[in-house]
Amino acid sequence: MGKVVLGVTVGVAVAACAVAALVVGRRVRSRKKWKRVVGVLKELEESCETTVGRLRQVVDAMAVEMHAGLASEGGSKLKMLLTFVDNLPSGSEKGIFYALDLGGTNFRVLRVELGGQRSELDPDVEQQPIPEQLMTGRSEDLFDFIASSLHRFAEKGNDSVQSSIMKELGFTFSFPVKQTSVSSGVLIKWTKAFAIKDMVGKEVAGALQQALDRKGLNMRVAVLVNDTVGTLALGHYHDADTVAAVIIGTGTNACYWERTDAIIKCQGLLTTSGGMVVNMEWGNFWSSHLPRTSYDIDLDAESPNPNDQGFEKMISGMYLGDIVRRVVLRMSEESDVFGPVSSRLYVPFALRTPAMAAMHEDDSPELTEVAKILQDVLDISDVPLKVRKLVVKICDVVTRRAARLAAAGIVGILKKIGRDGSGGITGGRSRSDIKMRRTAVAVEGSLYTQYTMFREYLHEALHEILGEDIARHVVINVTEDGSGTGAALLAASHSSSGSVDNIQLV
Ligand code: BGC
Repeated sequence: MGKVVLGVTVGVAVAACAVAALVVGRRVRSRKKWKRVVGVLKELEESCETTVGRLRQVVDAMAVEMHAGLASEGGSKLKMLLTFVDNLPSGSEKGIFYALDLGGTNFRVLRVELGGQRSELDPDVEQQPIPEQLMTGRSEDLFDFIASSLHRFAEKGNDSVQSSIMKELGFTFSFPVKQTSVSSGVLIKWTKAFAIKDMVGKEVAGALQQALDRKGLNMRVAVLVNDTVGTLALGHYHDADTVAAVIIGTGTNACYWERTDAIIKCQGLLTTSGGMVVNMEWGNFWSSHLPRTSYDIDLDAESPNPNDQGFEKMISGMYLGDIVRRVVLRMSEESDVFGPVSSRLYVPFALRTPAMAAMHEDDSPELTEVAKILQDVLDISDVPLKVRKLVVKICDVVTRRAARLAAAGIVGILKKIGRDGSGGITGGRSRSDIKMRRTAVAVEGSLYTQYTMFREYLHEALHEILGEDIARHVVINVTEDGSGTGAALLAASHSSSGSVDNIQLV
């Protein structure tokens, strides 16, 4: 009997030891996997590092590239495109004007009534998503769709666009265009999710005008502008100190007011104002100082436009979610903290930036929104809280880098036009004796307007780079619907009834 008891006891002890060993073994393994995941995060943080020193290098590189892009055609990855907008709306414009705003995931139609005397603007706006097949199909289909939307919109507002009175229209087309006048230009290339092959190299306003004519609409495309230019026009309408405009939405870009004599590649360019708005196309900016990760390299290589739009791919709404997806995929492949690797993680752009922002800004104690999005969007379920926290951290690192780089871009412009307080001197930043003029920058785009963390990081970086003394002279103004409303304003100031051609190329 005693032997039996002893045997059982020993058996139980051995089994207990085996279980304990298994548990310990599993813990050690899981700790190792966790360590690996933390290693991936650490590596991400290091390669996304944006110290003030590094941001200042980006500022300098941006200013240098701006000079190079203005000096010669093709002199820089920054195209520094002429816009032929040599005067910004004065506020005295009168009448009813239309605008079409095409460039992101949504398309807008606007109608603005201008009363002169810098009146309050209260545009009628209608927004609709662009059907995906139209972004990659035939140009005629896209422009017919736009013309039909405009037709419906105008009829709803009881404006007969088939009447004998011609209406004027501002067309915001947010892609790189080589302008030949304020109302004409050819598409250089598509960016973001658009890829209509037959349109590249074609006249953009002409294509729209033909579609309007096909529909029998009595409308004239009075101006063809980039969204940054529309934003600058509206920004300047509300605040005369506005010198630049930045878009941070699906894509990113900036434009600013430049002296014509600084546009060296276009010698003989004369405008009565002595200046012109330059569309930088900063999405294509590149510098070795940009903090680039292996995820950026892969994203770029797998994109339809490799080696293009490098700055945009680190900053804008089209890409941020996809960078996060790539990091989560790598972690998931290297450990099982996300459970078995979800096939959704292999789908490009499965995680969109709005969902990423929602996870980043989830302030519930259990991070329930993070859990929901992981489940609904990426098919990853039952992740423990500490893994959900990890996801928030990834979003934070990616967004912080984006916002800080955008801030450096803004300071780069200010430096180029002598508004960064450095007095044009690189290095020695003792600025107490420099008299700073109030300087406003108009900003638009969902990343800036709807993503609080992004906005806060951008402001924080502006202050860090410029220093408090200078930063308090720099104002960032949000211009709601600026890209469209600004185009209507420019249509008014370039209307056939009132405009004089102020620009000469001699
Ligand atoms: C385009 C720019 C545009 C920006 C913001 C970029 O992809 O190249 O022309 O201004 O997106 O919409």
